[in-house]
Amino acid sequence: MPRFNQASPEDRFKQVALIRAIGAGFASGNPSTLQEAVRQWLLSLLQDPSEKVRRYAMNALPKLGAGRAEERQLLELLQKSDIDRERKFLGQALNKIGGSATLDVIRNQGGRLSHLTEQRAKANLARQQKPSSIRLDATLPHIPSLRIHLRCRNGLESILTREIKDTTHKFRILDIRPGLLTLAPTSQFNLRELYSLRIFSTASFFLGTLPTTGERTEPLARLIASSENLQLCQALTDGPVRYRLEFVAQGHQRSAILQSVQKVYALCPDLLNDSRQAPWAIEVHPGDRGDWVELRPRLTPDPRFPYRQQDVPASSHPPLAAAMARLAGPFPHDTVWDPFCGSGLELIERARLGGVQTVLGTDLSPVAIEAAQTNWRAAHISGVRAHFLQRDFRDFMKLPGCHPGQISLLITNPPLGKRVPIPNLRGLLQELLTLASLALCPGGRMVWVNPVKIKPSDPTLVQDFQQTVDLGGFACRLELLRKR
Ligand SMILES: C[S@@+](CC[C@H](N)C(=O)[O-])C[C@H]1O[C@@H](n2cnc3c(N)ncnc32)[C@H](O)[C@@H]1O
Repeated sequence: MPRFNQASPEDRFKQVALIRAIGAGFASGNPSTLQEAVRQWLLSLLQDPSEKVRRYAMNALPKLGAGRAEERQLLELLQKSDIDRERKFLGQALNKIGGSATLDVIRNQGGRLSHLTEQRAKANLARQQKPSSIRLDATLPHIPSLRIHLRCRNGLESILTREIKDTTHKFRILDIRPGLLTLAPTSQFNLRELYSLRIFSTASFFLGTLPTTGERTEPLARLIASSENLQLCQALTDGPVRYRLEFVAQGHQRSAILQSVQKVYALCPDLLNDSRQAPWAIEVHPGDRGDWVELRPRLTPDPRFPYRQQDVPASSHPPLAAAMARLAGPFPHDTVWDPFCGSGLELIERARLGGVQTVLGTDLSPVAIEAAQTNWRAAHISGVRAHFLQRDFRDFMKLPGCHPGQISLLITNPPLGKRVPIPNLRGLLQELLTLASLALCPGGRMVWVNPVKIKPSDPTLVQDFQQTVDLGGFACRLELLRKR
């Protein structure tokens, strides 16, 4: 920075890229004691005689999480500047950090700043005042045509269907496709009731279909600004409605997004586009006869799995763990063992369903055992004895109190050899099946992910269910075996 300051105007002009690099290096995500000095330096560059230097500085400033002082300086520069390009870049910087001062300028003087800047400044203010705000307990407005899309990992459709039928009477299943169930509500409901279902990955409300040919910006904006969408958003949001627009599996589509959100704002200024921490996503999904437009609550962390305090690198996808637990079904005084428990998701999901006497988690890794213990405590499950032990699964019979026929459910997502190579995965899984035969009581179940299509050699361990499931980019078999 000092060397840049001392350089001749020509050298500064040639080295403007340094400004961008420093902005990125000291971005607000990278805490540093020098951040304040960098901010002051960038502010001083806004006074530079070279338009190019000023432009690079105004681009870099928002990266540092700039605030009111920076906003004021950008607005002052806007008043002075009569260079079109500079005004355009000032507008872009104000899109990111503009707030009440920017809105005042727009209100009093209009003209120089766009409707996009106005929309973003309103969104910035709303975000700062109330970061995330979906109302889980608010009853949804009655919209007769309302359709809910539940997306799940491919292969989990039948278990999700069973979960819906067994646990709630509020929804009717209209359609089942790979990875997608369409539901209609049968009575009033709130998001908390929808999120009592644990096997779906995402839930969204279907807003409509885009035409397959011709201009799509206007139809997309009309769906987003529709009264159904506005009713849903307003009923379910605490405070101003902010949304992010995303084209799923269709690339970035920056210009389509910019055009659409400006049209939406013109049609309905109550809906504010905001790419940062917006509580809602409007998603455009490839559909069969035209793309589907959906409204999705962005609930992160997922309110269904608040117990997930710690993770291991190969943690199960929580809805998969929930699906495995449901697949296991009930058993009187269930005694459950996960030989490869990792962070404990399968055991916790099974225990949450009730009827469990004991859970036992074993894992080679001390980090995994610590994670499982932490998560178990955070799940607040009472009346279940829980033991988490750092052991090789083969040591099961050596564990105090463990004997043949003691386990009524073996539930596990074993090492799959994808992230951590396993020298003899088949051999390890063969040993697991042999041990399962010994450990399971008559009628006991084994629910597991079988990555190599291995079969038990014990004829009394019989397959009851099998389904190929997407484990996030690769397919494995989910199986239920029963000990006769
Ligand atoms: C796919 S992860 C399990 C993830 C777990 N279901 C969860 O949700 O976090 C497999 C686990 O097996 C453990 N593991 C690998 N070999 C083992 C062995 N021989 N005995 C016990 N655990 C083992 C690993 O440390 C890892 O935590």
